[in-house]
Amino acid sequence: MSAPRLHESIAAWRAERAGPRFAGCTVGFVPTMGALHAGHRALLERARAENDRVVLSVFVNPTQFNDPTDLEKYPRTLAEDVALARGLVTDVIVPTAEEMYPDGYRYRVSEGEFSRELEGAHRPGHFDGVLTVVLKLLQLVQPTRSYFGEKDWQQLALVRGMATAFFLPGEIVACPTVRDADGLALSSRNRRLAPADRARAAAFPKLLRAGTPEAAAQALRGAGFEVDYVAERDGVRLGAVRIGGVRLIDNVRV
Ligand code: PAF
Repeated sequence: MSAPRLHESIAAWRAERAGPRFAGCTVGFVPTMGALHAGHRALLERARAENDRVVLSVFVNPTQFNDPTDLEKYPRTLAEDVALARGLVTDVIVPTAEEMYPDGYRYRVSEGEFSRELEGAHRPGHFDGVLTVVLKLLQLVQPTRSYFGEKDWQQLALVRGMATAFFLPGEIVACPTVRDADGLALSSRNRRLAPADRARAAAFPKLLRAGTPEAAAQALRGAGFEVDYVAERDGVRLGAVRIGGVRLIDNVRV
């Protein structure tokens, strides 16, 4: 497969999507904020195996960041991202925030219950931003299948719920979390961990499994993590912690 085609303008992308290259093709879609790692690569590989065309979006979505410093510090590595996607992806869309939000974010998707819990309780407005941008991207890409990682379990559940609520066409495919050899879930934020904190972070998924959610939270605090929450939903233990100023989330089956 040749190098992916890069689409920086939404109008040009829509013309391409409606044109002969996509006619009669199944389309796999992997939405990302860039800073791709082996976890994203696994999503792209699955999309490649299951579809004729694979579209990757790279868009650091400002509306899902409730902390401006976090948005500013989010790694932007487009050249490396395109290199990692080479051979797996046919098209990369890289829209600007101005084009994605022509309405200035006056229109948004909001879920009124689960989105307010866990991540949503700690990051007000986060899931409004996620759901809104995912809906926009799904409209633009018109995928047969979209691929989401189980690491962002609450995001995945809310995207599925939105797809059902709004009768969105296409399938939402869940893909297992990819972990480093020491068990830490891969995340674009891991690269912000200082080496000593990266070593300590490996304890997060192990301690998350401990006894009850309260016991896990206590064990995590004892190991030097600041704990935002540990909770269980539908047989899944979810947690969010901070270490060395970096916020990490993970989940394990219990
Ligand atoms: O999981 C992510 O990287 C983002 O939340 C997503 C789904 C690309 C929306 O910006």
